[in-house]
Amino acid sequence: MMALMRRTKVQEADFLVVGSGIAGVRAAIELARAGRVLVLSKGELYESSTEYAQGGIAAALGEDDEVSLHLHDTLQAGDGLCREEAVRILVEEGPRLIHELIEWGMKFDRNGTKLAFTREGAHSRSRVLHAHGDSTGREILRALMAKAKSLRAIQLQPYAFAVDLLMEGERVAGVEYLDEKTGALNQVRARAVLLATGGMGQVYKETTNPSVATGDGVAIAGRAGAMLSDLEFVQFHPTALYVKGAPRFLLSEALRGEGGQLRNIDLERFMPRYHEAAELAPRDVVSRAIVMEMQRNQTEFVYLDLTGLDPEHVKRRFPRIYSTCLEYNLDITADLMPVRPAAHYAMGGVATDLRGATDLAGLYAAGEVAATGVHGANRLASNSLLAMAEGETSAAAAPPEKSQTPTAVPSLGGEASPVELEKTLTTVRDVMWEKVGIIRKGKELSEAVNRLQSLAVPLPATPSRQYYELINILEVARAIARSALAREESRGAHYRTDFPLKADAKPPRHSFLSRDTGVQFSVEIPRRAGSSAAGARDR
Ligand code: FAD
Ligand code: SIN
Repeated sequence: MMALMRRTKVQEADFLVVGSGIAGVRAAIELARAGRVLVLSKGELYESSTEYAQGGIAAALGEDDEVSLHLHDTLQAGDGLCREEAVRILVEEGPRLIHELIEWGMKFDRNGTKLAFTREGAHSRSRVLHAHGDSTGREILRALMAKAKSLRAIQLQPYAFAVDLLMEGERVAGVEYLDEKTGALNQVRARAVLLATGGMGQVYKETTNPSVATGDGVAIAGRAGAMLSDLEFVQFHPTALYVKGAPRFLLSEALRGEGGQLRNIDLERFMPRYHEAAELAPRDVVSRAIVMEMQRNQTEFVYLDLTGLDPEHVKRRFPRIYSTCLEYNLDITADLMPVRPAAHYAMGGVATDLRGATDLAGLYAAGEVAATGVHGANRLASNSLLAMAEGETSAAAAPPEKSQTPTAVPSLGGEASPVELEKTLTTVRDVMWEKVGIIRKGKELSEAVNRLQSLAVPLPATPSRQYYELINILEVARAIARSALAREESRGAHYRTDFPLKADAKPPRHSFLSRDTGVQFSVEIPRRAGSSAAGARDR
């Protein structure tokens, strides 16, 4: 049966932003100075990782802090793979961006009149600002949305699922989107498109990410031929609440920053055996240590112990975590919390330069979907909310160009039910969790590549968001698995038992992958197909 795919609308904007999390909304505010901005977002406007960000936002604003220390800590966490110029911009711009948020109405927590800072893993200073205790992202988004809604040049459009880019020859000319309310496929044509679609945690069976984090931007850019980079670097957060059948609710690293301890099933505090910074070691170290303890003791979780902290302080400081855990009959001030790692953040994504430009003319990326090199092989905690700076001026740099008629889109047809789509999704997420997870091996990575390659997305009768998300998840999963197999070393969040050490290459190389090439390793973005590639092709 032919799918009912009617294109009912063609909209125009100067700038099109896809995604309404911190990166998309912050960029829209900046772009509104230069023209009309349309922000498309799938589902509800506020549904994003930003909305759930807990611990906070890092900036060198404390009296004992320096931008140079924030720079140093970020480079250390990135394990040799950060682009230093990008990190410099991040840490130098950070304090200004915080003040700007405050001007726009953001209410950070304070001690008296002074901003309150907390400590998180791998930070040498307490530099993480927070709001409503553990609802930092929600407060940021509230302030940004209020600012955006006050600007007439910005139009926010929810329930608009971006499916693919519209191309005019080699140039990106807009986006085709699914109207989730009517099922129609519409188009927006724009001078420049900024992808701000967030992360890809849903590629894994266990994740802290909300359901919208399906890697759409990476898949969309990849299908259009854009260069993707460093996809093998997936950060697993050490402490997601482990309650069978429930989503992996995040228990913020700030809980450990305030003195929370990790204990194994025998109630032994094990982190000092693994790292001198104990519970505040880099996330990859803590996640691996937890997996090793679980394997050693044949258990499915370890405990996060907050019982040594003042209960009133814990309730005040972490009200959202406290009340959410109570829904599972767990009192964080009195009970040991069962936790284990879950996929949390993608360091890799669509390769961009320092201004967010991809290697496709007219296409930009910002926020978690972008691989600017700012996080290297491992992101320093609370640095991603700050990375909104990347979207700031990006698309404004695009030259105005008259849109032409977009290319046609092929029709769909099939009989697969939502249950069948769900089955394929479960297979992909299981393969990724079991074979491309926290501790990796070449043999299992090869098996994953083959298994994912053999899977096909069944065709439903009509196109749906579920169907498009599954296509994206499968494509992103394949790209992560191929990149992880190609990187024959252990670095940052990518750990392989068959290559437990870092490779000798100096400086270390990023991985790049595109529709037209295999995985290549290079210091800079390789030139597009047709020109001579800068990096050595590995496979
Ligand atoms: P998001 O905020 O995820 O926004 C993406 C937007 O794109 C959403 O609106 C989504 O609906 C939309 N979208 C996606 N695909 C499509 C499509 N096909 N069409 C249309 N719209 C689309 N980082 C910190 O620095 N500090 C923290 O304390 C912190 N805590 C976190 C806690 C949790 C539970 C999680 C999951 C992450 C946390 N992070 C934290 C990471 C941080 O929240 C994210 O990296 C950051 O918010 C990403 O912002 P973004 O704007 O790039 O993406
Ligand atoms: C957390 O609160 O632990 C998450 C912080 C982050 O991902 O940066």
